[in-house]
Amino acid sequence: MNITIVGTGYVGLVTGACFADWGHNVLCVDNNEKKVAMLRRGEMPIYEIGLAEIVKRCVDAGRLAFSASIEEGTKFAEVIFIAVGTPPGYRGEANMSYVEQVGRLVAQHMDGYRLLVEKSTVPVNTGEQLKRTLAKYLRDDIPFDVASNPEFLKEGTAMEDANNPDRIVIGIESERAAVLLRQVYAPIIKKSGCKLLEMNIASAELTKHASNSFLAMKISYINAMSRVCELAGADVKQVAQGMGLDKRIGAQFLYAGVGYGGSCFPKDVDAFVHIADRLGYNFELLKEVQRINKAQREHLLQKIQHELWVIQDKNIAVLGLAFKPGTDDVREAPSLFFIPQLREAGAKLRLWDPIGAEKFAELYPEQKYYKDIMECVTGVDLVLILTEWPEVKQLDLAKLKAAMKVPVIIDGRNIFEPDAVRAAGFTYHSVGRA
Ligand code: UGA
Repeated sequence: MNITIVGTGYVGLVTGACFADWGHNVLCVDNNEKKVAMLRRGEMPIYEIGLAEIVKRCVDAGRLAFSASIEEGTKFAEVIFIAVGTPPGYRGEANMSYVEQVGRLVAQHMDGYRLLVEKSTVPVNTGEQLKRTLAKYLRDDIPFDVASNPEFLKEGTAMEDANNPDRIVIGIESERAAVLLRQVYAPIIKKSGCKLLEMNIASAELTKHASNSFLAMKISYINAMSRVCELAGADVKQVAQGMGLDKRIGAQFLYAGVGYGGSCFPKDVDAFVHIADRLGYNFELLKEVQRINKAQREHLLQKIQHELWVIQDKNIAVLGLAFKPGTDDVREAPSLFFIPQLREAGAKLRLWDPIGAEKFAELYPEQKYYKDIMECVTGVDLVLILTEWPEVKQLDLAKLKAAMKVPVIIDGRNIFEPDAVRAAGFTYHSVGRA
């Protein structure tokens, strides 16, 4: 099958690579010519495990190509996926101008039936807007369909997730669209046995925001619980384990810490609160989820403050800049909260992240970055852990203690066991463990 993907950001590129890997012929279109040239040279604009290899394999096999021309993309395939950005706009609602632009341009170049599929995370009822846009900008009476096919990939395991999906959701309004989307996903359904759920477009659009908001709520729930645990002398990890074994609750996304970050949860929950408001429902539950997430960072900052008394001139090693391990993505990462705050308070910061440092350094070029984790922690008054990288988990506590000036660890990811770290001679503060 020929498939066009518009937008070579995270979602578009991973989706395009996977579709091509499953045997389809894919053209990835992006209006950023520099990015297209880069991709044609085999350079990846994002880091994702396994992505570069699959892109290379598919390009070599002639099943994956890149173009800066939306006209070429529109002519190339009957099925066109929209995977352009929907960045937060004024007051947190999603900015839909890129999606709208794709709709307009596709309409202007269509020479026959096309199925336009929303893959980007969009507000409910975007399908209706897209249909209106296409109808408005089409020159002739050419038939088309709009569909929704939300994305559930996680950064760091995106290729694995794409090949073992929990479910595939499609929102469709015609049998013609359903047949085409079933064909797109036939290879992976056959291979993984996953379920294809067919529903109306609004339900599919909502499923995405409903899923991400629910996961964010689970994280905020356990983070709120961590505060109660600290006050009650309990251990949130043990409580989470006790809860998670109940199949109705499930063990995943019950890790207390510095709160969720990344390019999805903060933006999507915010957008969804605005969507609900606009529809006439005040989603106070989700507003509380956001408040708890923010408070979690403030609370950890207070622990640092309390421990150091005076932050001015203290050497602090920050371990982890990416919003989670396995990615170089620093968007909405907890590090973006802590580093400006600590810097403002006069701390001397030493920063380490195995792959996120480069992107972070684009924002804070004047900071000191270390490639070697032991060099980073040498002579510091405090180690702050913000990302649970394997390198941090594997730190030799005796060596760490010997390297630091004062053995204090503030662990925002509950990596270590409190008794073991304290027995090794550290002052240790984590999240939700008294
Ligand atoms: C998230 C969803 O998990 C995906 O299903 C979805 O497709 C994606 O957003 C998206 O909308 O594109 P992602 O942002 O890559 O994926 O990362 P997650 O693994 O969900 O982690 C998000 C944040 O929550 C991270 O900062 C992580 O550290 C934090 N988190 C996660 C916790 O603090 N505790 C947990 O128990 C789990």
